[in-house]
Amino acid sequence: MQTYEKLLLENKAWAAEVQQEDPDFFKRLSQIQTPDFLWIGCSDSRVPADKITGTQPGEIFVHRNVANLVINTDVNLLSVLDYAVNHLKVKHVIVCGHYGCGGVKASISNHDFKYVLNMWLRNIKDVYRIHREELDAIKDEELKTDRLVELNVMEQVFNLAKTSIIQRAWKNEQRPDLHGWVYGLKDGLIKPVYEMKAGTHIDPLYEYDDL
Ligand code: CO
Repeated sequence: MQTYEKLLLENKAWAAEVQQEDPDFFKRLSQIQTPDFLWIGCSDSRVPADKITGTQPGEIFVHRNVANLVINTDVNLLSVLDYAVNHLKVKHVIVCGHYGCGGVKASISNHDFKYVLNMWLRNIKDVYRIHREELDAIKDEELKTDRLVELNVMEQVFNLAKTSIIQRAWKNEQRPDLHGWVYGLKDGLIKPVYEMKAGTHIDPLYEYDDL
């Protein structure tokens, strides 16, 4: 059997099991989706949003990319954010990074990862530059990477707050709260590292006054 065929077999078994335990499960979920959370996480296969938070299908709206970045020209991310905030009306947006993140590690190196990856990782190098003094002082490479993972998550929360999508929702509906979390691959635990309540004022340069 091919490896991918196992996935399809497992899917059949899972669907049958769920159906047996909760006969209305699929009918219920197919009619309505009302998640409270938007999760912006790393694409890393070891950080599955639902599994590590013990949530079920229907509870978290998920977007994942390399190193959980919020980039203001990323139409994919912004579409997900727009839909989650304005249509699903999520109450919380969580940016969840993880210690030992390959994308963050790569951004610290001077290796040429070619074309598109260089372009993507540049955004994390910019986070390093903002916090250069603190990061340069950390000599241990692993600790340095882990601190950059935390700072990266924090900067992505700032990036969310800079969007008119978030600012408009804050103004009109006092939601969503923004959270920066970091997941530990070694112990499976999530550490909250930053929080921004709805309506928080940020650098005035980024605040729209005519929303
Ligand atoms: Co990662």
